[in-house]
Amino acid sequence: MRDSILSFAGARYLWVSLVLVIASAVAYLWHDPIGVPNGGTWLGYTLGTIAATLILWLMAFGIRKRRYGNRLGSMLGWASAHVYLGTALIVITFLHTGFQVGLNIHTLALLLMLLVIASGLFGLFTYLRYPALMTRNRDNTTRQAMLDEIVELDQQALSLADAVDPKIHGAVLRSNERIRIGGSAWRLLRPREDTDSAIDQVRAYLEQRDAEQRSDGNTRDMPTMFAMVDFLSSHAADSKNEALRKLMDVLARKKTVTTRLSRDLQLQALMEVWLYVHVPLSFALLGALIAHVVSVFFYW
Ligand code: HEM
Ligand code: HEM
Repeated sequence: MRDSILSFAGARYLWVSLVLVIASAVAYLWHDPIGVPNGGTWLGYTLGTIAATLILWLMAFGIRKRRYGNRLGSMLGWASAHVYLGTALIVITFLHTGFQVGLNIHTLALLLMLLVIASGLFGLFTYLRYPALMTRNRDNTTRQAMLDEIVELDQQALSLADAVDPKIHGAVLRSNERIRIGGSAWRLLRPREDTDSAIDQVRAYLEQRDAEQRSDGNTRDMPTMFAMVDFLSSHAADSKNEALRKLMDVLARKKTVTTRLSRDLQLQALMEVWLYVHVPLSFALLGALIAHVVSVFFYW
């Protein structure tokens, strides 16, 4: 089986992390400090130093990621170690504090760390789950092919609408203009498009025409002259109806493609957006951690 971020090298870093966590827990239980366990005992200092070193190393991942000449395999190893050791930090830091947390700068560091880890877990989830969802959603096409098809469908819809009625033409034109795919991060995450309103208007128009034609049905027994005129107008109506039905098909297809394209962009945005929480908060964590270490050395 191909290695994934979690299974890399037989989940080597899961074992490394478990050993680290279990060793810390055993040391914590065995340790018998004077007073309550806290960050100020020798074990507290040791676990704190391990945690701080891990945090610095986890932050170095960003630098590592951007270095040229990285082999993909080794990057996967780094990523795997990153998620397992990052998660192990939860246990190590709580043991470091001896579960003595109050409302202060030290707890701020802990809180920021937990937020960084939570966002990391969300990111891991997107990395594991979304690529498959994206492939399924794309259904063997590409983003460019979807865009091209939308442009093509827009044109088809316009020329069909043109043959029907200026009102319908206007409705299709408006819906073409209102479509917005992509753009700001917010738009990517909450896509919106307006094919529905055009579909609704065309449907209403079709229903209205159907009703009109049905009520015209009893003109059959009219004199020949009238029947002829009726025949001609209903023939014209047929071609209009035909255009309308085609238009409905085109709009329905457009709805399918735009929904698929928006979903594609939305999934990609979700795979990236969490890094905008993860990375800045890890810098905030670094700041709080420096403040924590400096303050304990000066004031404790
Ligand atoms: C070089 C690394 C570190 C050193 C030297 C260190 C040192 C200390 C010391 C001396 C205390 C005891 C304070 C007391 O007893 O009241 C303490 C407590 C604490 N440390 Fe650390 N620490 C380190 C890393 C970390 C890390 C990485 C975190 C979390 C991100 C952390 C979070 C805390 C918290 C929440 C407390 C409890 C504060 C309280 O009593 O309210 N420390 N640390
Ligand atoms: C205190 C702990 C952590 C810190 C300081 C930290 C920091 C970082 C940094 C600086 C990056 C580089 C992002 C970039 O430059 O693009 C990163 C990426 C990442 N982190 Fe963390 N992280 C921590 C914990 C975690 C945890 C617990 C997980 C998951 C369980 C995680 C999952 C990830 C993932 C999936 C990436 C992106 C990998 C990639 O884009 O190839 N992180 N982290």
